[in-house]
Amino acid sequence: MPTPFEPIVRFIREIYPNRELIPLHEPVFGHEEEEALLACLRSTHVASTGLEVAAFEETVCRYTGSPYAVATVNGTAALHLALHALGIGPGDLVLTQALTFAATVNAIRYTGAIPRYLDIEAGTWAFSPAHLDEWLRHRSFRDTEGTLREKSSGLRVAACLPVHTFGLPAQTGQILDCCNAFGIPLVEDAAEALGTFREGKHAGTLGVAGVLSFNGNKIITTGGGGMVLTHDEALALRLRHLSTQSKQPHRWEYIHDGTGFNYRMPNINAALGLAQMAGMQARLDSKRAVGARYRTFFRELGAQALEEPEGCQWNHWLNGVFFRDRSERDAFLEYATRAQLGVRPSWQPMHLQEHAGAPERQYQEPLPVTMDVYERLVNLPSSPIL
Ligand SMILES: Cc1ncc(COP(=O)(O)O)c(C=O)c1O
Repeated sequence: MPTPFEPIVRFIREIYPNRELIPLHEPVFGHEEEEALLACLRSTHVASTGLEVAAFEETVCRYTGSPYAVATVNGTAALHLALHALGIGPGDLVLTQALTFAATVNAIRYTGAIPRYLDIEAGTWAFSPAHLDEWLRHRSFRDTEGTLREKSSGLRVAACLPVHTFGLPAQTGQILDCCNAFGIPLVEDAAEALGTFREGKHAGTLGVAGVLSFNGNKIITTGGGGMVLTHDEALALRLRHLSTQSKQPHRWEYIHDGTGFNYRMPNINAALGLAQMAGMQARLDSKRAVGARYRTFFRELGAQALEEPEGCQWNHWLNGVFFRDRSERDAFLEYATRAQLGVRPSWQPMHLQEHAGAPERQYQEPLPVTMDVYERLVNLPSSPIL
């Protein structure tokens, strides 16, 4: 039976009443944000030297349980910084998923490394630990110096970079076990996953580094912003140093001990982030309630919606529903877009994109679960209602 479109559109309008255009995910600001920004302007400390950046890092550390955090200008920069600080560069291979926003792959490319796309799994719709294990067993080998390399290309297998897709918690524990068994670092792209926990552990806190984004469409925003979480103190110090042009501390001299980046989050963005963090629980509660309404509705309609995996707390960043096939998906996108609803398919998988997939396409295996999600899933308006 075809999925009926009009009841879905009506239902979304019931969740978000009295609006012509309903965005996919919009930020919410109140009096606290206005006060925080005004105070920051009046202090004149709008750039990276003010106190708010460290306070924001501490607040996110407390919330996520991460011992260290380094705030950056955006999540893409945070990913690049983490990979760079781990020594990933030309001649390296990074294992990641094709179902992700382009930033994941851009960050790999900035280092000169090459992405290899592994399939995702049903349920978490993120990197599959089973596929990773199989790939490492059959597609890699140790050379005479003990370096792990891909059999087909000879490239060094330098890191594993799974994504917590749509904020859903990837099976990071199992992925980490696999990475440890083969001695490769795990970096988590938790850009969409602030507020997501699996077995009490926040997304992005199991790997040697985990990255958050505070872009305008995320659960909280700093306008633009990102953060690297880590439990490694030495890595945190290196990240902070690299993010501030590798400048050595000195009262007047400008001495740089390497090529650094201008990636440190400005104070004005951190001030906004601090105010947003104060409303984190209210956002999570509201998004959970919206997610529950979608799930009940789609269950009654006989359609499959994104579900919270057992034993997890999903931040419900983006809700979603599966259509029967690509043509039904496209017909719904057409219908709902005309009705001014902020709906969209998942990102076009990276191995299909000319720039991101082309140079190494001969080594790329088929990704059936990735393609299934791409062809059938539609993300739905998911803003918190506050
Ligand atoms: C999965 C994923 N990775 C990385 C990023 C990059 O974050 P930013 O936009 O803050 O650079 C985003 C989102 O924007 C994302 O969704």
